[in-house]
Order: sequence, then structure tokens, then C-alpha cells
Amino acid sequence: MSVLRKLPVDEVLDRGRRGNLVRRLTGKDLVGFGIGIIIGSGIFTLTGIEAKQHAGPAVVLSFVIGGVVAALAALCYAELASAVPTAGSAYTYAYTSLGEIFAWIIGWDLLLEFALGAAVVSRSWSGYVANLLDLPPEWFGEDAAVNVGAMVIIALLTAVAVAGIRESAWVTNALVVIKVAVSVLVVVAGLFFVRGANLDPFVPPTQPAAPSATALEQPLVQALLGMEQSVYGFGGILTAAAIVFFAYTGFEALANLGEETRNPRRDLPVGLLGSLVVCTLLYVGVSFVLTAMVDYRQIDEGAPLAAAFQSVGQPWVAVLVSLGAITGLTSVMMVELVTIGRIGFAMSRDGLLPPRLSQVHPKWGTPHRMTIAGAVLIMLLAGFVPISELADMVSIGALSGFFIVALAVPVLRRTQPQVERPFRMPLSPVLPVLTAAACLYLMSNLDVITWLRFAAWLLIGFALYFGYGRRHALLARRGGS
Ligand code: ALA
Repeated sequence: MSVLRKLPVDEVLDRGRRGNLVRRLTGKDLVGFGIGIIIGSGIFTLTGIEAKQHAGPAVVLSFVIGGVVAALAALCYAELASAVPTAGSAYTYAYTSLGEIFAWIIGWDLLLEFALGAAVVSRSWSGYVANLLDLPPEWFGEDAAVNVGAMVIIALLTAVAVAGIRESAWVTNALVVIKVAVSVLVVVAGLFFVRGANLDPFVPPTQPAAPSATALEQPLVQALLGMEQSVYGFGGILTAAAIVFFAYTGFEALANLGEETRNPRRDLPVGLLGSLVVCTLLYVGVSFVLTAMVDYRQIDEGAPLAAAFQSVGQPWVAVLVSLGAITGLTSVMMVELVTIGRIGFAMSRDGLLPPRLSQVHPKWGTPHRMTIAGAVLIMLLAGFVPISELADMVSIGALSGFFIVALAVPVLRRTQPQVERPFRMPLSPVLPVLTAAACLYLMSNLDVITWLRFAAWLLIGFALYFGYGRRHALLARRGGS
């Protein structure tokens, strides 16, 4: 069956060695890129919303659960990225192990995750900037007819992403230092305003959901099991874990930099796991401090951290938090743009997308056409579509990708035992299968409407694959099976 034809691993490794992307990144750059893309709207906005709506102070546990699932997925990525360093990451791993159709699905998912993620984040960026500088909401707010702020920031960052990977790394590293410093400041300053009474009860008792909640807003697992829609309690912690998983998405982008890293076999696992550990610690600290400073029922949903410091009479910390959010969101968009370029580059190189998209700029050494094509799509979404409700799509796109990557680990071990694996996931196949199950379980806690939108995206993807990719694939031209 040609849809299951596979790309030979040796060919991928050989391409990486001969590739025309330039190897300029170090392990430190990768940890910077990782933190740069991970910390963003998730911690600056979702923490407050989820504490208030689903988990109470136990949102800390939701972050721990999300962190564990993300770490399991990162271990799978570390094995595959160190064994098969390539610009295509999960897309290419699936192509070598599970077959072309799985590769297409995962590549299509990743494009969804990063394009939508960048669009969501650019709109939040625009909102924070408008708030801090008192800019007109009709150009920068969520209700703007055309969100000019979001479009301008994407255009500016695209210019940096096209200019070169080193330049992107410098910008990202500088922004990351500010973002981490602000997150640490939140935790340290917040500890002075902890009130034990706010943490009691730590897990608020289960309650029925608001009567206004429609069936489409119900988590899939509750809908399938015919359960009554509820919030808080243990179920609330899990629902919040699925939603705050958004905050961890993005670390897998590092695996796309395999052809631009000096020593990918050593540095990719360091970058993947290192950035995730730092972010998990910061998330747990920030969510603890927030719920300990403010009663979870009183949390501000728009700017929870800034409002918490205002409420305890510390407006200067609130201003610093807003600045941290702006820089944090900027680096998320930067890395997302870089990543879209690499994934599209890999898919086009294999013939699944038009070949012009994988041309590398002779001077800048970047896949400029794909980066610009992705940026145009993001600008259209960011400028015209009110997408806040689509943030869950980023989580479902990421989790479905992790599901396939987890399964690719044992499959590739069986089909390609000879490939050198500088990093090995422990306890395979048990742990990879558990990882896949955990991803699926978290996905089932996302609401029905998110699943329907995801299904629509996959249908468009299948139409493109059967209409173009399957016939134009490099493997098709070779008569591969
Ligand atoms: N993890 C990124 C964020 O929280 C997408 O904004």
C-alpha cells in the first residue's frame, strides 16, 4: 500500500550530513530556544482561568500532571531526535517508521499547532502591549476588526527568522533571559504575600458545571461516558491539566533543529529535557504563588498575575509582569515561525508539498519561502479571526503528534535496530505505550467542539494528501512501495 511507504533511515541521516542548512547552534542555544517557545500565553493567562474555572489551587497539580506527560513525550523525542537528527522531526520519524500517511498527518498537525499557536500568541501580545502603552483597542484589542498589532509583530519577526538561524537564536536568548527573570521575580515576590486561607480547600469539592455550558463545551470523555458535566474535584484537575498542556507545547520544536545543531546527538536530548525541567519548576512555582496570593474565585481572568500584584498593593511588580509577558510572547512567536519553516521545508523536500518551498536562501541559509508562506497564513489568521477559543486546538494538535511519536519509538527499534541511539528511552516498549495512552487520555479531556474542529483540519489534510502529496512524493517518483 503506497500510503504506508517508508523513507529509508540511512537516506535521512545522509541528507542531514550533506544538508544545506547550516550547523550553527549549541546545546545552550537549544535550551534557550526551548524555554523561548514553551513559556508564553499558557502561564501568563491560562493559569488564572483554569484555577478559577476548573481546579482551584489544585491547578498546581494540573501543571505537575501536564509536566509529567510532556516529560514522557520529551524522552521519546530525545531518543528519536538523537538517532535521526533532521529538520522534519516527528514528521520524518513517522515517515521512517510508520509510513507516509502517518508522516503527512503529523506534519499537517504540527503546522496547525504552530500556525495557530503563533496567531493566538500574537493577539495576546497585541493586547498586552495595548494595555501597557494605552494604545487604541480598535487596532490592538481582541474585538478589533483588523488586529494590526498582531499582524505587525508577525511581519517583524518573520524578517528576523528569514535573516538567519543565528540571528533568531540571539533574539530568542535575550528575550528568554528577561522572561525567566520575570517569572522568578513573580515567585519570589509572591511568596511575601502568601495567605494560607487561600489554599484551603486545596482541591475544591466537585460541583455541577454552569447551566449555560452547552454539550459541545463538554469534555469528550464526559460526553462519551454520559457523565454529568462537572467542575473542580479530581475531574477538574484533569480537565485543567489537558487545557494547561498548552503551556508546555512547543518544546518539540527543538527536534526540528537537528540539521542546524553542531552536535545534535548530544545536544538535542539536553535541550529537550533541560528546557522542560526549567519550565515545569517555574510553572509549579508561579501557579502556587498565584493561588496562594488570591482566592481562586477572585482571580482576574485577563491578566491574572498582574492583577494579583495590584491587589496586594505592588503595582510596580504588575508592570514588570506585563513587560515579562510581552517579551515572553515575542520569543514564542519567534521560535514558532522558525519551526514552521523547518517542518514545511522537510515536507516539501520529500515532495509532499510543492518543491519551491524547500529552497534555501543562498545567503541567509534559511528556508525563506516556507517561512514567508507560513507567516502570511498566520498574519491572516491573527489579523482577522478572533481565535482565543481556538487555543485548545494547539493542545490537541500537539498531543496527537506526541501520540504518534511515542508509538514510533518501539516501531523504529524493531524495524531499524542497527541505527545508533545515543539517547535511549528507558523501559521501552512499556513507557512509550504509556506515554501514548496518557496523551490520548489528556486529549479526551478536551471539549467536543475542539475534536470537531480537529477532525475538519484532518479532512482538509487528507484532501491535500490524496490530491497532491501522494502523487508528487519523492518515493512515488521512485516507484517506492
Ligand atoms: N507553550 C506556549 C505558550 O504557553 C505555546 O504560550
